[in-house]
Amino acid sequence: MSRRRVIQHGIEHYATVLEPEEALEPILAPPVRAAMLEWLTEIWAEAELAGVGIEPRRRALFKGPPGTGKTTLAHHLAARLGLPIAIIHPERIIDSWVGASAQNLGGVFDALEAEDAEPHLLFFDEFESIGGKRHQVRQGADHQHNGMVTTLLQRIERYSGFVVAATNREEDLDPAVWRRFDIQIDVALPEQEERHHILARYLAPYGLPDAELKQLAESFATASPALMRQFCESLKRQLIIGPKIKRNMQKEAVIARILAAVTPHPDFGLPRLWSLKTQDIAIRNMPWPLPLASGLPKEATPAGADDANVVPLGGKGTR
Ligand SMILES: Nc1ncnc2c1ncn2[C@@H]1O[C@H](COP(=O)(O)OP(=O)(O)O)[C@@H](O)[C@H]1O
Ligand SMILES: [Mg+2]
Repeated sequence: MSRRRVIQHGIEHYATVLEPEEALEPILAPPVRAAMLEWLTEIWAEAELAGVGIEPRRRALFKGPPGTGKTTLAHHLAARLGLPIAIIHPERIIDSWVGASAQNLGGVFDALEAEDAEPHLLFFDEFESIGGKRHQVRQGADHQHNGMVTTLLQRIERYSGFVVAATNREEDLDPAVWRRFDIQIDVALPEQEERHHILARYLAPYGLPDAELKQLAESFATASPALMRQFCESLKRQLIIGPKIKRNMQKEAVIARILAAVTPHPDFGLPRLWSLKTQDIAIRNMPWPLPLASGLPKEATPAGADDANVVPLGGKGTR
């Protein structure tokens, strides 16, 4: 393959690079956790797999709605492997100049495969924009896109590092691109159990008695973890800042302000809390002022509530 000689950029030119130490452990449904553990076990068994003539799988597709933790999970995985993550945003690659998108994408792989390059986990966000279906050429943009997909197919095949791609539109991916990903993980919206843990984590250092926390988790059905985090952080911000700027600090007033400011994604149904607002039983039963978690009876703290931000990096996980 002949490639035009271009300036060689480092990976930072194309990607946001995050270090393992910055990773946060996402709260995941059991099937997602099981799939991740299986993949990690496979990677750590590289030598034994070589004994039977196979290699660990290196390419995974994370599928799921926005805000479910795909980026967080990829970062966590990279941390478990002791690698920094290089997050590729499509807008840093796609360029309307003839051949530029393909060249940028080639640049990503050149940077990661350079002799002195540190290994990274390569992560493609909104992957459907880069790996979307090739089209019959009708206009210049089709030609551009097809060229980029061809480059992607060639380079990804040769690349020996780990690649994770995230998408919410699996059906838009080019079939040949889709086939290159031998692991597929559904990062679904959280169920009740996960919502309970997510609220406990992000409300901390505040907390709710167990029954009230469960009610609040139910009122968040169909919400993404990102939305739940936003709600909890807005609540904490209101509790600290509200009195300083002389806001009405009655429970209903505070919650109404938050619900007006934090909006659920329009595609994924309205969580009950946003339809019933301050009339929701979870809000009516919420103790006020909000208690500190440390002051609650012991069973009020579910497992996972105090695991905040700890990434298990030791042992086999670190290279
Ligand atoms: N499963 C989860 N557990 C805990 N926090 C989460 C989870 N999913 C998302 N978040 C939080 O929501 C925000 C957005 O998550 P992100 O990983 O960017 O989602 P996605 O990549 O799926 O759009 C992050 O700040 C993250 O901390
Ligand atoms: Mg993301």
